[in-house]
Amino acid sequence: MRPIIITCHNGAFALPAAMDLLKAGGSAVDAVVLGCTMVEANPEDHSVGYSGLPNLLGQVELDASVMDGNGLRAGSIGALQGYQQAAQVAREVMNSLPHVLLGGDGPMRLAAEMGLEPTNLLTPEAEAIWKSRLTDSDDRDASYLGRIKQMVNLAEDPQIAEQTGTGEPAHGTVNFIAMDMNGDIATGVSTSGWAWKYPGRMGDSPVIGAGNYADNRWGAAACTGRGEMAQRCLTAHSVVTFMRFGMSLEEALAQGMRDLDALDDPYASEMNILAIDKDGNPGGASSNPEKEFAVMTPEMTEAEMRPRTYVELDILKR
Ligand code: GLY
Repeated sequence: MRPIIITCHNGAFALPAAMDLLKAGGSAVDAVVLGCTMVEANPEDHSVGYSGLPNLLGQVELDASVMDGNGLRAGSIGALQGYQQAAQVAREVMNSLPHVLLGGDGPMRLAAEMGLEPTNLLTPEAEAIWKSRLTDSDDRDASYLGRIKQMVNLAEDPQIAEQTGTGEPAHGTVNFIAMDMNGDIATGVSTSGWAWKYPGRMGDSPVIGAGNYADNRWGAAACTGRGEMAQRCLTAHSVVTFMRFGMSLEEALAQGMRDLDALDDPYASEMNILAIDKDGNPGGASSNPEKEFAVMTPEMTEAEMRPRTYVELDILKR
């Protein structure tokens, strides 16, 4: 099969290395994990890995997942602190444990057992953004519940979208979907989650079926944006299921977006989906008309940016 790999725009720089891996016969799983690992190490991206924006308490907590469409194998981790290679730890859950999702101290313990180097994920720059957005950031015991509205408004601040390095509001994420030379499909997702989130909050990225789903028989999908929306609609799984039951890639993406309109969600915000069908055709959809995604095939020397299908969501007008 002719390999292909796609990502959202903050992952585009990692596509040539991931495509080299695929061209050398590497697996789709390893290609998506390599892509995530490169973005997790990028200090200019404040939505993923090292230098991610922290939770309310100033702690960076990482979520990630990996799914192998060959056999529906999956691994994911939530709220990992102190290690930047979140996607590698998720792959280790998939490959080494009889589990899918690890939370609590589990991801940190597994990262240590893998021999990964502990890292202080909170960079001075991310800390400065956190402090500048929290007027009473010294009051670490303040009730989050009483301040959630204010926090959401802060997270939607367009300046934050610029500062995250993703152009998205402060729940930016990176995702990769690849098909390798064997025709196997895999997805990888990694994020530091919603900036200023309640400690322990996990979004769609570590929830298989919400932010990430891959099935060699029908295709794969992955989401970025406000994770709670994709969690409640199981958006990635829905898009793959729509293809299973006969929709084209573009129809499935549009239906996955339109499903979000059923949500009663006062915090609704931008959502984006990437997908490939079982033959490796790529597509993307977004509630933001300017959103693009990046594609790389073997003959390309650099990633190509393509428009996403714009789906206007009524929920964003309410
Ligand atoms: N989509 C990433 C998050 O909501 O955490």
